[in-house]
Amino acid sequence: MLVYSQPPPCGGWTTLLALNLMEEASKDNELTTSEIINSLFLAHNDRQENPITDLIDYDSIAQIKLSKSYAKNLSLSKGQGNLMIIDDTSGETTHFSVVDSYGNAIAVTSSINAYFGSLSASKELGFLYNTYMDDFIFENPDHPFAIKPNAMAYSSMSPTIAQEGGENVLVIGSPGSSRIISSVAQITALWILQKNIEALIERPRIHVSKNNIYFENKADSLKVYNLIKTQGFNVINPSEKLIIKQNLNAYYGGIHAIAKENNTWIGVADPRRDGLTIEVKKQ
Ligand code: DON
Repeated sequence: MLVYSQPPPCGGWTTLLALNLMEEASKDNELTTSEIINSLFLAHNDRQENPITDLIDYDSIAQIKLSKSYAKNLSLSKGQGNLMIIDDTSGETTHFSVVDSYGNAIAVTSSINAYFGSLSASKELGFLYNTYMDDFIFENPDHPFAIKPNAMAYSSMSPTIAQEGGENVLVIGSPGSSRIISSVAQITALWILQKNIEALIERPRIHVSKNNIYFENKADSLKVYNLIKTQGFNVINPSEKLIIKQNLNAYYGGIHAIAKENNTWIGVADPRRDGLTIEVKKQ
């Protein structure tokens, strides 16, 4: 399976790195909760500690970052998890996936960052300006994402397409700041193993940020708590205010995906947000 995602300054390379780490960790076609946690931790941490900073000429560094040997070496390391990060944006991001009857696919993630962006719009051009300036670090000038001339705000957006035998088989993406990377990587990795997108969209999610692990399902957090406590992670269950349906929590993004299973395309829109999937038949 070949997986493609969005180049820098977007987060696609971190999503692909997380996928490589999960592939490296998984044994016998299974991916455990601890393997997902560790892979997400190492990938998010690598973006903070060793980001791709050349946002124009990034091919050679991206090739290294996405090599199997990079994932192998990273999986043997511990990561630091102590850099200041930008994580908690809630805002105006959306993702949609489209496939036509020939199997051509597009994955689109679009963002003006905060709700209503900068709250100012162009009268002539008819759009709201974004607030991507928020995605710089202001407190620490040495931080890889510090604001400075020619710097570009980084993004987690990861519109992603997987191909098998040269054909598109999965089109996926999500809003949710750095939770985009966690959600898209874990669902893509699990879909490659299980090929059941309808079950996966409802599956409780995990997000890792610094040494914090966010569990959508409290029972999961108890199950792995003892294991991860010894590795120095904190366990967090995010605000229940965001739970809009059963135990599904809007904090974990809004996946919109189309997957080819048994020769049939299946579309899913995240029940955590107000997603809707409609099948459109060719006339
Ligand atoms: O590009 C980014 O990573 C941010 N602008 C995304 C913000 C976002 O997803 C907020 N949504 N819930």
